[in-house]
Amino acid sequence: MAAAPRLICEADALRDAGDGVRFEIDYGGERAPAFAVRHDGRVHAYLNRCAHVAMELDWREGQFFDFAGRDLICSTHGAAYDAANGRCLGGPCAGKPLVRLRVEERDGRIYYLGVDDG
Ligand code: FES
Repeated sequence: MAAAPRLICEADALRDAGDGVRFEIDYGGERAPAFAVRHDGRVHAYLNRCAHVAMELDWREGQFFDFAGRDLICSTHGAAYDAANGRCLGGPCAGKPLVRLRVEERDGRIYYLGVDDG
């Protein structure tokens, strides 16, 4: 049975290319950090774990975008990810993507639905 949608935040907490919102999920039987951002008007969410080394991406809480507000950047060694799908764009992620999470924007709120298995 699918888990019930879980509230992450109010929709207006996520501005396009602005700071993300951190939250936690159950992942592999453990609590794990995750985040949601808004990119080109749509909300995307990922496990907050770099594909290079299992580090959180944000150097300042909620800061996931590069200075241009276009790509997601890991603060540790600079891996770049496509904000729309988590694909590795360059750097030490070496082709490995972020773990995508399913989210829904509904009635002015953002909900977590589960890990995107494919
Ligand atoms: S830990 Fe993210 S680029 Fe190395």
